[in-house]
Amino acid sequence: ASILVLHGPNLNLLGEREPEVYGHTTLHDINARLEEIARERGHHLLSMQSNAEYELVERVQDARHEGVNFILINPAAFTHTSVALRDALAAVAIPFIEIHLSNVHAREEFRQHSFFSDLAVGVICGLGAQGYELGLQAAINQLDQ
Ligand code: DQA
Repeated sequence: ASILVLHGPNLNLLGEREPEVYGHTTLHDINARLEEIARERGHHLLSMQSNAEYELVERVQDARHEGVNFILINPAAFTHTSVALRDALAAVAIPFIEIHLSNVHAREEFRQHSFFSDLAVGVICGLGAQGYELGLQAAINQLDQ
């Protein structure tokens, strides 16, 4: 099956961005590891990062026509702001898992609310880069059922 990983704004800076909060692993390393896991288990992984809300919305819209079966998404700051990205995921009705590197519940008040969690199959936060791997394994388990 085809799995799409979407990374929201500022995640291109992973590794150098507040490493005490977000860790030392780069986005390239995360994507490479996910591609390896997907390949080992006979699936195909696509990934995309954007700092622009409309690009993420369009990527989600295109996913339906491409036959994407599952989405892993870290909407980053758009988690707390984007009705547009939420609506795009609802529109395409592709199952998705929401991932955050940091434990958003242990941080500022404005990070406590997500526009995505009630639509998500599941939510992973606070486990750093490992959260993406766990999310991918869960997605593959569902797809293989
Ligand atoms: C984040 C948490 C968000 O609150 C923040 O805006 C991010 C990253 C995380 O992965 O922990 O950019 O989604």
